[in-house]
Amino acid sequence: MLSAALAVGFVVAADAAEIGRECLLSTKTTSLALALKDGSWNVLHYGDRVAGFSDAAALSWNRWTGGNYVQRAPSAYAVYGESAQRGYSFNKWGGLQATHADGCPTTVLVGVKAETVEDAPGAKHVALTMKDASYPFFVVQHFRALETCDVIETWVELRNEEDGAVRLGRMDSFAMGFPLLANAFSFQYVTGQWASEAQLRETPVERGQTVSIGSRSGVRDAWDNNASFMLSVGEAASETSGRVFGGVLCWSGSWGISVQRDQCDFVEVRAGADTSAGAYVLDSGKSIALPKFAFTWSSSGKGQISRNIHRWAREWQMPAGGKLRPVLLNSWEGSYFSFTEKVLHDMMDGVKEMGGELFVLDDGWFGTGKYARDDVHRDKVGLGDWVVNPEKLPNGLVGLSDEAKARGLKFGFWVEPEMVNTNSWLYEAHPDWVIRAKNRPVKVGRGGSQTVLDFSNPAVRENIYGQLDALYSKVPDLSYIKWDANADFYNIGSTYLDAQHQANLPFDYTVGLYDLLAKLRAKYPQVDIQACSSGGGHVDYGFLRYADEFWGSDDSDARERVFIQWGESQFYPACAIAAHVTDVPNHQTKRTTPLKYRFDVAMSARLGFELHPKNMDTNEVAFAKKCVADYKRIRPTVQQGDLYRLVSPYGSSHAALMYANEGATHAVVFLWGLVRGNWSDYVPPIRLDGICGEKTYRVREINVRDGVKHTLADGKRLSGESLKAMGLPVRLRGDYDSAVFELTAE
Ligand code: DGJ
Repeated sequence: MLSAALAVGFVVAADAAEIGRECLLSTKTTSLALALKDGSWNVLHYGDRVAGFSDAAALSWNRWTGGNYVQRAPSAYAVYGESAQRGYSFNKWGGLQATHADGCPTTVLVGVKAETVEDAPGAKHVALTMKDASYPFFVVQHFRALETCDVIETWVELRNEEDGAVRLGRMDSFAMGFPLLANAFSFQYVTGQWASEAQLRETPVERGQTVSIGSRSGVRDAWDNNASFMLSVGEAASETSGRVFGGVLCWSGSWGISVQRDQCDFVEVRAGADTSAGAYVLDSGKSIALPKFAFTWSSSGKGQISRNIHRWAREWQMPAGGKLRPVLLNSWEGSYFSFTEKVLHDMMDGVKEMGGELFVLDDGWFGTGKYARDDVHRDKVGLGDWVVNPEKLPNGLVGLSDEAKARGLKFGFWVEPEMVNTNSWLYEAHPDWVIRAKNRPVKVGRGGSQTVLDFSNPAVRENIYGQLDALYSKVPDLSYIKWDANADFYNIGSTYLDAQHQANLPFDYTVGLYDLLAKLRAKYPQVDIQACSSGGGHVDYGFLRYADEFWGSDDSDARERVFIQWGESQFYPACAIAAHVTDVPNHQTKRTTPLKYRFDVAMSARLGFELHPKNMDTNEVAFAKKCVADYKRIRPTVQQGDLYRLVSPYGSSHAALMYANEGATHAVVFLWGLVRGNWSDYVPPIRLDGICGEKTYRVREINVRDGVKHTLADGKRLSGESLKAMGLPVRLRGDYDSAVFELTAE
């Protein structure tokens, strides 16, 4: 059967390459070359673009490794069991471990079909169908090469046509082996905790070592680590030099990513949904689509990896990534649970005066009767009851939306749809709807009563969809939802799933979450979504398929934000990073930073406010008005431009980055002091990677407060060539001084 399929030959015409058992997928600057060898797809090359498949085949190092068989078999999708087939027994486990219906624990894949798939302009899409040599178990691996951003998306579908269930001990989306590429590798990732997310780290991957990151929260998938990484091939790359592989897993549940380097410097990169709590049971006759993994390559350092992924996010992944994000005020730090309609109207007045465009009501507006989320009960009650609290808001959300509209503002509000309080009408009616192992007590987190709803159960999702639908439809001008999630799977189990399928819960929960998000997004495409989960717990590209931005941390201290946003910027574009100007002393760190510093940091991403404007004096309001007006001018470049990280905050007394628009006719440079010594930490000229040497720029400092300027170049017309050669001369005075410069080509 297999040979018959092979005999007809495959027709994969990607990048005009003539392909039978060969596949060359190229983007503007990268190529992935795969060859069907010994029945399965091997990687000949991934990296800089090659001229054609025959070159890749001729130059492929792994063809010349003599007796070292392992180097000759770098799989495009490595599975547990292929070592047996290929006669080597190194410790590579592959990304797929399937125990077949008869108990056979290994899989041996052979190619049966390769085809091009119709796709959008700019996308070259191939689907490689493989089958187990002995079982009717199918694997379809998709590759979708996106020309303009140099990103390749890949995902895998599994289909079980065996007589019984197949148990998936591992089911990674990506499990690619790379033949010898270098003799050194290092792995960059971000790690963190609540209010200190996205701290940048890098570790060498030594010979014989596996480096892994992941999350098993079930919900807050991006707290410990983010599902993204860069792998330097050779010595650790810098922002502007070095060879780097970068990837992101698009998944909002539990996940794992690992890089394994063996004794021969063969590297296997794996990324996928986590199954460490038990094998996923794929029933006979069923299929499963595993999460998407997107990857890219740069030979000019890490900055290019970020720019590629940012462009991919804006152009291909996010629902409206090309749209400019509004300046908003969120009510949380300005009032927490203690608000009246009057307080909220005053906030609207304040943000309107400063030039804001959207008002967002945070937590505390819902729940009724004994479960009203009022100022006394706060976070202990009400989650799951998505009905307005009439005591607090007699005119409801519609009343608030009308008030916002009357002021020329858009309106949005906060919800936490994945969650329930045991103190709620929903829980009273459906105590079996929460995540809980059978015969175990319910475990709770925040407020002593919060836990997670079982979204593997369609009835639960229907109920929440019905409640949200009723709510959304009542507010005709609704334009924004903040989607929060403040708990993990505390007692993992499902009273909905039967005994055999308990371990399917983490995966099925996330599929259920996406089902709910997709339905809401489809019915209300005009309602933007902010992904939030106790700050940065939902910062991932699975959620950003449905959401427009994220709240990356509950730490709103501007100095801390320099680090947090630096970490986020590795993979997430500025338009997605919500950054709010808040009050001082900061509510999390108690640090006091100047208002200018807070603006200078927040304006480097999606600017917003999270304070009560009545606490600002007239001078501060006047400064804020000017900043917002300037932000609106620079917003297209900041939110949609290319990012150049110029000076890292790690190991430095200051940090700087720049955004440049297409063609670099407009650029904005942000410079932030951290904590500096008096004499030792003068700031060297800022080297402006990313501006154009052939252009002439007018340099202008903006956000100037009390007439204090930070560069002698202010107002000057200077050639890009000279600016590149000498850098921008700048000066900072003391802790938390900062500056923003605008460069306009003339
Ligand atoms: C956690 C979020 O991160 C905060 O921004 C805020 O929305 C609170 N939840 C509200 O309970």
